[in-house]
Amino acid sequence: MSTITLPGLIDVHTHLRVPGGEHKEDFATGTAAALAGGVTMVLGMPNTSPPLSTPEALALAYAQAQADTRCDVGLFAGASPEQIAHLPALGEQAVALKIYLNDTFGPLRVEDVPTLRACFQTWPRDKMIAMHAEKQSVAVGIGLAAAYERPVHFCHISRREEIELIADAKMRCLPVTCEVTPHHLFLSEADAVRLGPLGDMRPVLGTQSDVDALWEHLNDTVDCIATDHAPHTLAEKHSDKVPPGVPGVETSLVLMLTAVTQNRLTLHRLIELMAANPRCIYNLPEQPDTHVEVEMTPTVIRSETMHSKCGWTPFDGMAVAAQVRRVILRGQVAYEDGVVTAVPGSGQTIP
Ligand code: DOR
Ligand code: ZN
Ligand code: ZN
Repeated sequence: MSTITLPGLIDVHTHLRVPGGEHKEDFATGTAAALAGGVTMVLGMPNTSPPLSTPEALALAYAQAQADTRCDVGLFAGASPEQIAHLPALGEQAVALKIYLNDTFGPLRVEDVPTLRACFQTWPRDKMIAMHAEKQSVAVGIGLAAAYERPVHFCHISRREEIELIADAKMRCLPVTCEVTPHHLFLSEADAVRLGPLGDMRPVLGTQSDVDALWEHLNDTVDCIATDHAPHTLAEKHSDKVPPGVPGVETSLVLMLTAVTQNRLTLHRLIELMAANPRCIYNLPEQPDTHVEVEMTPTVIRSETMHSKCGWTPFDGMAVAAQVRRVILRGQVAYEDGVVTAVPGSGQTIP
């Protein structure tokens, strides 16, 4: 049994559900789950209710985050055709802008070219534009990155055709980066059948060929691992209107460490994908005196031990090779042996 020490990990794609979805998750529970997973910094998505597409909504969410967060948290602003005039004011507060090009949970959607142009012309050039883009929408995003000569980050890339398109764009030195989720790496459409509503998310789980393509590109084209932690209650998932999304912030590190023990990537590459690259892509601050201690002991992921308010995981019953033992954030013990010791409000908001 060996213990390894890692830097505090960064998950640049989480849904913390404030405001409007506090019965699914809130800043205190979502960041408790993060710490239990070895994650000391998260970025929260804007598809809340109301969405974070006005300066007022974003300021309120940041105030709530400051009161409740246990690890460090930054928030995205959401692009919306009706609220597009707010982009410069939103750009002063948010870490980055999120544009939803395809159908998913929540009302945020951009389907018209004038709104896309406004985003690329008025969002501060020193802040990232991230996209939920699937299939040919990835080509739209690459085109915009080229036309406006500014970086675009693609969220949860899940299909062979998408990762190959991004590889082609990178070969031409276009300023694009991308993330993949653990669920798209470790689960496929066969699991979607087994899991039923608990395996439903956007993008949907891929074919074996899609999964293989993500692993094939993990050491070059993929820039980071991000979870798309998207908690919904079990009652909602078992209802007749199933909301898409699965939790993940608590299980990503142990899953990726399991892949390290199987020689699918090196520990050095894991740290690039889960700490160094996310920080670089979103220009996130360093966290001094912060690290994660992990024990390389076999264990089984269990829904009962999850800290997310939703109380379940699509990886329930899966054997993994590692266990998070202790998390130190700015010199303080934030998590130890199953117990989150960081109190609400002890984390910092970014910027
Ligand atoms: O499955 C998903 N759930 N995909 C998304 O893009 C949004 C997320 C959510 O907010 O539940
Ligand atoms: Zn998405
Ligand atoms: Zn998401």
